[in-house]
Amino acid sequence: MIKKITKEPSTALFPVPTVLVTSCLEESSPNIVTIAWTGIMNSVPPVVYIGLRPEGRHSYRLIKDSGEYVINIPTAGQAKLVDYCGTVSGSKVNKFKETGLTPVPASHVKAPLIAECPVNLECKVRQVFSLGSHDVFIADVLAVHYNEDMLDEKGHPDMDKIKPYGYCGNEYRLMADKLGSFGYSKKG
Ligand SMILES: Cc1cc2nc3c(=O)[nH]c(=O)nc-3n(C[C@H](O)[C@H](O)[C@H](O)COP(=O)(O)O)c2cc1C
Repeated sequence: MIKKITKEPSTALFPVPTVLVTSCLEESSPNIVTIAWTGIMNSVPPVVYIGLRPEGRHSYRLIKDSGEYVINIPTAGQAKLVDYCGTVSGSKVNKFKETGLTPVPASHVKAPLIAECPVNLECKVRQVFSLGSHDVFIADVLAVHYNEDMLDEKGHPDMDKIKPYGYCGNEYRLMADKLGSFGYSKKG
């Protein structure tokens, strides 16, 4: 028999992504924050969320006051940068300068895209609510950008090139091999 060990309730859900969320306000330089509490909420229209602690997050006010953010999906080779952006605050350092990442203008929001991240989602906040430790910023996706060299010959995102990775517990882990694709269980 398989024996289960029961533990206290926690956010023991993995893998989750780690993304670099950019934000800005007129009076301050754009900032980058690492976020693992993020995901999809609706398909049509496309709606996503991020969970952000109000305390100790320079990005909190930028996103609350601007009502906008960009989700930048990193590639596995950028995991160390992602860790860095999640361990220092934009209130003390300019993370674009420190990391050498390049801000490029977005098409619909004032927050910049990160040029080096293969995928960027421009987001406009539609609802904010507090769940306790974190505030949830639910947002419409206004545009999605892909770095050209990350697309396959059909123009679809090529996961072997993008090399997304997962956050499992407190570890960054590769998602190396393809197991199948949607509906493969039904095909012979
Ligand atoms: C892997 C990782 C995931 C994180 N996920 C979140 C998150 O989902 N929500 C959050 O509020 N902070 C999260 N953090 C912490 C912030 O990224 C961190 O406090 C950051 O320094 C805040 O930057 P800022 O002050 O420039 O906004 C995470 C940090 C790491 C390293």
